Amino acid sequence: MMTLQELQQEHASSLAALEAATTQEASDAVRIRYLGRNGLIPALVKQMKEVPPADRPAFGKALGEWRAALEKALAAKAEAAQANAAPVAGFDVTLPGRWRAEGVIHPVSRVIEEAAEIFHRLGFTVADGPDIETKFNNFTALNTAPHHPSMDASDTFWFDAETLLRTQTSPVQIRTMLENQPPVRIVNPGRCYRRDTTDATHSANFHQIEGLYVDTRPVSLADLKSTLGYFAREMMGPGIGVRFRPHFFPFTEPSVEVDFTCHVCKGKGCRVCKNSGWIEIAGAGMVDPRVYEHVGYDPEKVYGYAFGMGVERIAMIKYGIPDIRFLYENDIRFLSQMR
Ligand code: DAH
Repeated sequence: MMTLQELQQEHASSLAALEAATTQEASDAVRIRYLGRNGLIPALVKQMKEVPPADRPAFGKALGEWRAALEKALAAKAEAAQANAAPVAGFDVTLPGRWRAEGVIHPVSRVIEEAAEIFHRLGFTVADGPDIETKFNNFTALNTAPHHPSMDASDTFWFDAETLLRTQTSPVQIRTMLENQPPVRIVNPGRCYRRDTTDATHSANFHQIEGLYVDTRPVSLADLKSTLGYFAREMMGPGIGVRFRPHFFPFTEPSVEVDFTCHVCKGKGCRVCKNSGWIEIAGAGMVDPRVYEHVGYDPEKVYGYAFGMGVERIAMIKYGIPDIRFLYENDIRFLSQMR
């Protein structure tokens, strides 16, 4: 068994050997020689019982300190080696990393998905209908007067006298009622088409979410208001209220336009709501008896409301998008901000 002094010399020389090691292999060799399974330190630990009992504590302490010092030096060496890692040939560590394009859900899709989810909680299912519609579903059954200006070729894309690109999602109301008996409770998100000149707030192709609830039990304007109030809070945040203003739609009576509290100023008045504190979001009303007649429902026996809202409008105010055209250009610099 070596003396305490010899042990301290070995301690010093192990650190010197490590200090002198310039390669990973050389450091590894020092580690194996002193700390490896057959290394010097474990061997000395095994020989402890040969040390005279009086010297054992001092010897054990020195051995422990040596091991700790060597391990610490090895760790420091490894860290330094990593920090100074010479670039691998042909690999420039100063180059920027490779950019991986990451997709986002388009704000229009996001509003649609969120709205469907909110209405689902109130018992609405999602209905679907085609973009190409009949004049009957898009106008006639919705009680639109025969020569109403909205049917004009300057407003509607016609294929022929009976077929058109739907100007609203309301024809899905007709399809739903023709195929189902009350109660019906549906929402329908979808594309609409109008001969509008594109500007910051208009597009010839936009999206609406239609809603229809018809039951044989009484349904009132108050139900409509509470439903839209729930939707407003869930979609735009707490503290958002709804306001009804009298309006006219051929397929509802009475008809209203629906405003939400401006989510930016919370009703105080700001630039976004043009100082009114309110933002127009939807059209709505109690389904007109003439519509029930067109789909074969008995107007005396059913009650119902309908609403239709603009998806782009909601997306624009929710995400602060100043121009509707941003939603269609698919410019990655815009879309990537919509997280
Ligand atoms: N279809 C209407 C539009 O495009 C919106 C609308 C108003 C839908 C009232 C409705 C409704 O279902 O009840 O302007």
